[in-house]
Amino acid sequence: MPLTRRTLLASASAALALRPGPMRAQDAMPELRAAPALAQLAPEGYGATPVWTYGGAVPGPEIRVHAGERVRRRFVNGLPQDSAVHWHGIRIANAMDGAAGVTQDPVPPGGTFDYDFVAPDPGTYWYHAHARSWEQVARGLAGPLIVEEVEPWLGQEGTATREVTLMLADWRLQENGTLHEESFGDLHDWSHGGRLGNTVTINGRSDAAISVRAGERLRLRIINAATARIMPLRLEGHAATLIALDGHPVAPRPAEEIVLAPAQRADVVIDCTGAPGSRAQVLLDAGRGEWVGIGSLAYGPEAALPLSGVPVRPLPMTMDHALDLENVQDEDLLMEGGAMGGLRTARLNGVDRDFRQLVAARRVWAFNGVAGDMDQPAFQVPLGRTVRLTLRNDTAWAHGIHLHGHHFEVLSRGGRTDPHRDRRDTVLVMPDEPVEIAFVADNPGRWLLHCHMLGHQASGMLSWFEVG
Ligand code: C2O
Ligand code: CU
Repeated sequence: MPLTRRTLLASASAALALRPGPMRAQDAMPELRAAPALAQLAPEGYGATPVWTYGGAVPGPEIRVHAGERVRRRFVNGLPQDSAVHWHGIRIANAMDGAAGVTQDPVPPGGTFDYDFVAPDPGTYWYHAHARSWEQVARGLAGPLIVEEVEPWLGQEGTATREVTLMLADWRLQENGTLHEESFGDLHDWSHGGRLGNTVTINGRSDAAISVRAGERLRLRIINAATARIMPLRLEGHAATLIALDGHPVAPRPAEEIVLAPAQRADVVIDCTGAPGSRAQVLLDAGRGEWVGIGSLAYGPEAALPLSGVPVRPLPMTMDHALDLENVQDEDLLMEGGAMGGLRTARLNGVDRDFRQLVAARRVWAFNGVAGDMDQPAFQVPLGRTVRLTLRNDTAWAHGIHLHGHHFEVLSRGGRTDPHRDRRDTVLVMPDEPVEIAFVADNPGRWLLHCHMLGHQASGMLSWFEVG
């Protein structure tokens, strides 16, 4: 589908809902309202798309705080379904995690829920629906959550002068601009790579033009909010320097290509080396190495600023995470199932079922031989213990595994020590390439553990672990 310029439709700003009585600053609870709206996602000339939104727009409003500050939002459910809001990647108190049915009751249509938590770590995060997320996120319920460094990083020697958030999403649109609704929950999608769309948007626009000035140095906060699409990305003619993954600072390193699984984020720095008035494409590998433009850096006519010329300054390393690998608790997560997976049996509702029965029950994947039963945790761990979790993918598909409430370190891939030992909250696990991760179980509660290909999550790749 050729992509041209477009506009965002409805854009209602969040209203302040005040309790009756004398107004005090700490009483103000801003609303985050989920409701249907229209958005012009498709190219000009196609119809607007009926979507589900936070605050009337896709993506939802960018929430921005400094590390250590509170986020407070009264979620108001204006949808025809139960919902809840998950604050992806935030090391949050369990009761605020927004996992409907696990950490809170689902919020019914017309209902509200007050979220109030501290965002401890600076970085690029996001929020999204966590009830029927395979449908609700695919309909648009996601937005950026940016936690700024306590000491401003921008504007210092070697940093960027400006930052831009790029939230990427993948939509399955029909000719008339509406979402392809009949295929929500399609088991063929779920048993393969998930619900892949035909239109990738940046900040809710296909072929978005990101205004830049020649010579400036930018920090791009890139978020993959797709429900299934793994996104290999490049910036035409620009050398990117990676500075953070899933919110976590990394030692700056060149990144010609960035691969983001669903839910993953990358922060990169670019020098705007293009000429005034020029354009450079944001390129996505749509599969089979076929790179397509999904938007562009649009250079304004202003004369070029002098290039910075100094190496990119690292982000401050803020989070300490003293892994105790001497006294580690070892756990395994074996992924099985899906198309061409050869899964014979898995447990469902406590009983072993053959693959035909699993298909009939729409549970075609399994974690450790269990197809999404939630009665038993995958593992339990005492508070403060280090867990080393080996993720084994015995399927024909890639999976983006996400842990709630914790950040982990990637120790090894395919049996080889990972040179970067990046810290993340979501890791892409390829078939037959075991990934070892480790984390300190320092956040008490019951935490979800799932594939962030949301159709996989709904059809068996979901479990939980208990801390404390
Ligand atoms: Cu991004 Cu269980 O979530
Ligand atoms: Cu998966």
